[in-house]
Amino acid sequence: MSGSGIDDVHALEPEDFIEEVHSFEHWFEAVEGYLKGLDHGHLPDVAEALLTAEERDRLIATFCSYAVAETAALEASSGLIAIAPNRHAKIFLSTQTVDEGRHVEVMLHRLRELGVPDPEAEVERRAGPSVRNLRKKILQLVEAHEWDAAIFAQNVALETMEYTVFRAHARTADPITRDLLERVLRDERRHIGFGENELGRRIREDKKRRLWLGTVKSELDSLVLQTFEEAMEEIGVPRWDRPSLGRDYLETVNRLGLV
Ligand SMILES: [Fe+2]
Ligand SMILES: [Fe+2]
Repeated sequence: MSGSGIDDVHALEPEDFIEEVHSFEHWFEAVEGYLKGLDHGHLPDVAEALLTAEERDRLIATFCSYAVAETAALEASSGLIAIAPNRHAKIFLSTQTVDEGRHVEVMLHRLRELGVPDPEAEVERRAGPSVRNLRKKILQLVEAHEWDAAIFAQNVALETMEYTVFRAHARTADPITRDLLERVLRDERRHIGFGENELGRRIREDKKRRLWLGTVKSELDSLVLQTFEEAMEEIGVPRWDRPSLGRDYLETVNRLGLV
């Protein structure tokens, strides 16, 4: 899917949206278009930038946290297939599972490119506490078969946060990291579109569900915000220059009618 913002998918008519966003065929064509000819998620002929020891270390810590967020999405999206209430959602989640598997792999490979000999051990050691807690919370919702809450936690809260963080990071990142993140962002935008569409429809059908999701959102808010701040610290974005996660998150939540 081409375009420059989360809103792209909302420009589609509802039936076109369902067909486009939920189709395996569409997904395959889309990813083939922007992943062909890459080396572990980025263009093969981009030279590694000269990084200071401190910049490299900061980047390693950042990718460790990204790997945890992507692993959460891989585990949750695959677990959600079994409890998805309709075929469209199951097929979409099968494509998201593959996207997230790719994201985990490229994040770990980036660590290796940065000189980390054992990326998984490094992730264990260095990933931030908030992103670990968010992973735990999302997986609890999946295990409890809380479809609406888990889709909200993963496809709205986690994905919007990743979208905002990756976009902010890509603006100042070294060329390899920027190329990698820009390609991951295209997938995350599609994942958010699915979450909003799925929840928007279900909320319209059931007022009680909207109230329940409002409660879930309130419980998740502080964890999402902490994870965002943790990521901004790791990237080294000064406080005054931090993009507003609140803006992207609130826009989504407002569109869903959650307060
Ligand atoms: Fe992802
Ligand atoms: Fe995602």
